[in-house]
Order: sequence, then C-alpha cells, then structure tokens
Amino acid sequence: MDVLRAANEREAQGHSVIHLEVGQPGTPAPAAVLDAARRALAADRIGYTDALGIAPLREAIAGHYRDRYGITTEPAEIVVTTGSSAAFQLAFLAAFEPGDRVALAAPGYPAYRNILSALGLEPVLIEVGENAHYQPNPELLAEAGDLAGLIVASPANPTGTMIGAAELARLAAYCRDRDIRLVSDEIYHGITYETAPQTARAFSLGDRSGPIVINSFSKYYSMTGWRLGWMVVPPDLARSVECLAQNFYISPPALSQLAALPVFGCRVELDGHVARYRANRDMLIATLREAGLSRFAPAEGAFYLYADVSALTQDSSAFCRQLLAETGVAVTPGRDFDPIHGDSWIRFSFAGSTADIEEACHRLSDWLPSAGQK
Ligand SMILES: Cc1ncc(COP(=O)(O)O)c(C=O)c1O
Repeated sequence: MDVLRAANEREAQGHSVIHLEVGQPGTPAPAAVLDAARRALAADRIGYTDALGIAPLREAIAGHYRDRYGITTEPAEIVVTTGSSAAFQLAFLAAFEPGDRVALAAPGYPAYRNILSALGLEPVLIEVGENAHYQPNPELLAEAGDLAGLIVASPANPTGTMIGAAELARLAAYCRDRDIRLVSDEIYHGITYETAPQTARAFSLGDRSGPIVINSFSKYYSMTGWRLGWMVVPPDLARSVECLAQNFYISPPALSQLAALPVFGCRVELDGHVARYRANRDMLIATLREAGLSRFAPAEGAFYLYADVSALTQDSSAFCRQLLAETGVAVTPGRDFDPIHGDSWIRFSFAGSTADIEEACHRLSDWLPSAGQK
C-alpha cells in the first residue's frame, strides 16, 4: 500500500507511472454484465436480497461447477458473498474457535494472516520455497504442530504456482484424517497457462465437514469493484455461515448479483484477457532474464511474477521505492507476502494492458543492469 500511495503521489505530480503493483485486471466487466447491470438499474428496486444471494445466481454458480469441473453441487451449498474477502471472514468465524492455529503458505496473500489475527486465531506460516513448488504439502504440515485449519490458494498470489490435482487430493486426505479444516482459495481459477486447476470441492466425498471453497468474480471475471464472490460450504457450517452473513452484511450487493447473472457465458471475452496475460507474462520474463534476473516462482496461473532480487538488494522495500523514483515503474516488495524471506523478493503484476507491460519492459531493461551497483 505504501508503494501504491507513492505511485499515486508521483502520478498526481504529473509523472508517468506504470502500475505493476496492483492485482486487478485492466479491463472492465464483460459487455453482457454491463448490459445486465443497465437493465437491472432500469427495472429493479435494488433492495436487500437473501443473505445467501439471489437464487438464479446460486443456480448459475452450481451450473459452473457442473460445466467446468464435472461436479454436482447443490445451490444450497453456495453462498454469494461481498467479494472473497467477506467469504474469508465468514469461513474463519464459522470454522474456527479463538486461539486455533491455522496454517498458510509464506509467501502468501497477506490478508489471510491479517484476518486470522484480527479474529484471535493464530496464523502458522509454512515456509514454502522452490523445493516445495511454493505450496504447502503434507510433509511440511507435519512439522507445524497441531492445526485446526489450512488455507491454500492455487494458483497462488504472489507466486502464481499451482497445486496439481493429485497433490491437492493428498492434502485434502491429510486434512480429513486429522480434522484439519481445508480452506481453498480458488479466486485465480480460469487464469491458468499450463493445466486446468482442480477444485477442492472434488475431494469432499460427501463429508459433513469437508473443505470450504472460496471463489470470486474479481479476477478471471474482471469484476473487482463489484465486490462479489462466493463460497461452497460443507453441511456442518452452512447454517453458521448464513447467520453470520445476515448479521454482518445483510446481503451481498444486489446490483452486482443481477449484473453477474450472464457472466458464466462470457468465456470467449474472458479467455481473451487470459491470452493477454500470457503474452504479458512471457514478455516480462524474457525482459527480466535478459537484464540478469532469472529466478522466479513458476507463474503457472494468476497474473503475478514473483522474482528473487537477492543479487540486487536485501531490502526489497527500498528497492521498490528506488525503482519507482527512477523509472516510474511501481512493483510490490515481497515483505508484504512473506515476513521471513520477502526482503529479497518483489512481485510484478502483469494484469494491465500489453502496451503498459511493453513500456515497463523498456524501462526495466534500461534500469536493472545498473541497479546492483547503486
Ligand atoms: C489470493 C487472493 N484471494 C483473495 C483476494 C481478494 O479478492 P476479492 O475480495 O476481490 O474477491 C485477492 C485479491 O487480490 C487475492 O489475491
């Protein structure tokens, strides 16, 4: 956030800034969503909805599990939320008790551990380096002591790495055998470059206390500001989640729900964005390699490249400030994602336009070769 503030200040002073720090698509919502929003505004009262979300959207989400993963889910399991951010609060409050220890990867999305701490839960960081493909596995979990929960994200932020289907099955079985609640953040599903991801819902095996799946319309569906997400909740938590949602939010945003109804039919437009992310990713990797940076987490999905800058700095925050001041390229220091090793990593977001990534690449290839000597 400090980098974002500095970038915005620089921009306000009239300097050109290329935003590779923000984790959101550069595109608006799909055309059919915008049309549906206009129609809803003209015809609907836009009042509160059912706390679990409007029935046609929950049915559409259930249909998405059938079409995309070949899995039958009941609309009763689907809870529409105010972005996945609200879903985390609902999930953690419903599944855990104060003081519970919940494991998560470092590096990882910082809000997980901040929300856990705010709710009186103990985040247990699992160091996941290159050898672990930057993802938790049963062997690493076995060293973490007693756990009430495990949060995974595949593809992950900031690394873009994925957990393969067999490995996810192994993690789900490990958790089931030890009463560890698996929370699977699937927000970057749809934005993948090598293999299609599996959903943790595939491994619930009719279990009453199976995994909690969290997803969102923010990333693949290009709807960040509409604040809409969903969760697939196991039977033992369904009622708690509903009561919490009613009390916290009354309902997710009505206009966004009505607008999102056609979104699962927008794959051609949305896959076009993914093709652009792929081109951006390839251009960025080639530029960084040529400029002497060659160690990255494998960006198999999402729109981030997590790069090791230990050859250039041991203070990635200062490095990002200097990069912004001297080139106008804003990137995120790794410390946000990893309090252990983040000082020697930075995250590039390549979710913007290809023209922006091209310009950033020009500036980076001029600047990086000299950065080590500064
Ligand atoms: C891994 C991950 N999960 C969840 C979120 C939150 O997204 P939203 O609340 O918009 O669904 C983000 C946002 O960057 C993210 O990177």
